Amino acid sequence: QGERPENETDKGLRIADKGYLNTAVMRSEITYIDGEAGILRYRGYPIEQLALHSNHLETAYLLLYGSLPTKDQATLFEEEVLHHGVVHSDAEQFFRSFRYDAHPMAMLTSAFAYLGSYYAEANPSLQGMYILSSLLGWLTPGTDDILCTGQTLYTKGSPESLAIMDKQILRLIGKATTLAAMAYRVRQGRDFVTPPTGLSYTGSFLYQMDHLGQENYVPNPVLERALDVLFLLHADHELNASSTTVLQTGSSLVDPYSAIAAGCASLYGPLHGGANEAVIRMLISIGKPENVPAFLEAVKRREKVLSGFGHRVYKTSDPRSFIVRKTADEVFKVTGRDELLETAMALHDAAMKDEYFTSRKLAPNVDFCGLIYRAMGFPLDFFPVLFAVPRVVGWLAHWRQMMLQDGGVKIWRPRQIYVGEGKREYVPVDQRV
Ligand code: ACO
Repeated sequence: QGERPENETDKGLRIADKGYLNTAVMRSEITYIDGEAGILRYRGYPIEQLALHSNHLETAYLLLYGSLPTKDQATLFEEEVLHHGVVHSDAEQFFRSFRYDAHPMAMLTSAFAYLGSYYAEANPSLQGMYILSSLLGWLTPGTDDILCTGQTLYTKGSPESLAIMDKQILRLIGKATTLAAMAYRVRQGRDFVTPPTGLSYTGSFLYQMDHLGQENYVPNPVLERALDVLFLLHADHELNASSTTVLQTGSSLVDPYSAIAAGCASLYGPLHGGANEAVIRMLISIGKPENVPAFLEAVKRREKVLSGFGHRVYKTSDPRSFIVRKTADEVFKVTGRDELLETAMALHDAAMKDEYFTSRKLAPNVDFCGLIYRAMGFPLDFFPVLFAVPRVVGWLAHWRQMMLQDGGVKIWRPRQIYVGEGKREYVPVDQRV
């Protein structure tokens, strides 16, 4: 045993908070959760009201800019998001370069990073072109903003720099559905579909996935609205793992395409965005309702996880789970009831009566929406994508808030409690025992 390095002990109080149970890293005005009371509000508006009256893009505007848009603002925002839905035709080659059975989340995560390579403000090698053009006098004032990335770019607060930031936001929200639809179609060996005009955000997404060359094809309006409600429910959830990842990554002042790719990777895990997929795999493995008690016993022995239950913040039912149930009823009227529904209900009822789960305050979270996605015909491994696409909005809202906060951005650099060896002397390989 050597000595402990001095600087590990002389820095005053250091808090070891594994999993950030009690650490607040931001002041935020975006989303409010009361986990004991089961309350979720976006910018002060209860999620139940938004799910009933709003739509995903209106809610996106609210989350990003702090207030509900006027009619004109809403129309313009929707037009711009949909306008940015088109991606460069090179992206087709990019998607075709994946293995035939690549997980769609792997494709989507890579695609967000790939997107950044197209935009000069995110790609230093393209910036050379801007320098050249500006030398030749081709660019108007604002070029300085384009030439720098991160904090210098955004916190200047000039109309030009805000315009660049908002264009990045429009691009990412607009192209998220297109990239996701491309990941969907390439898996099926189908050609890609250009984003249509005249449809809503979710309508366009369904069109790009479903369209098989039929004339006058329009998505089913009940399913379109249901997907829109689910998108709205998933748009934000304050500082969950993926949003925190976006901020952590963004704090190095990297471009937002890279930060969103990092958030997407974080969401992929089964404890977070992969849970909606895990719920269905769990229900399939349980099979019939009569197998539920044996499954719950295995969970109690810690041999299995009860996916779709439990939450770091909610210690009562997740308020989104009630809206998911109502949405499921509407979807099942169109698609028919999913055969796993009986098993899901038996599992819910048994767990909610069992002291093991109630004493740990484990209740259903939003991830039972996997049953709706399954009824709508989406393949299992596409479910996390259906979470990531709407969450792009929340990621960007938090990122925008951080970039514009008073005093600028400080790089997120947590400390550790070093518990390894003290100083040791190097031993040449032939002298080691
Ligand atoms: N199944 C069985 N036991 C559970 C579950 C579960 N789903 N969730 C928590 N527990 C138990 C833990 O074992 C622990 O028991 P113990 O005190 O006897 O050791 C107790 O409940 C407290 O749980 P923690 O793990 O401390 O809770 P934490 O806040 O760290 O984890 C998490 C939250 C990751 C969501 C967890 O509940 C979980 O794994 N759930 C299943 C996966 C899931 O549905 N994730 C989606 C989350 S929501 C979202 O991202 C949309």
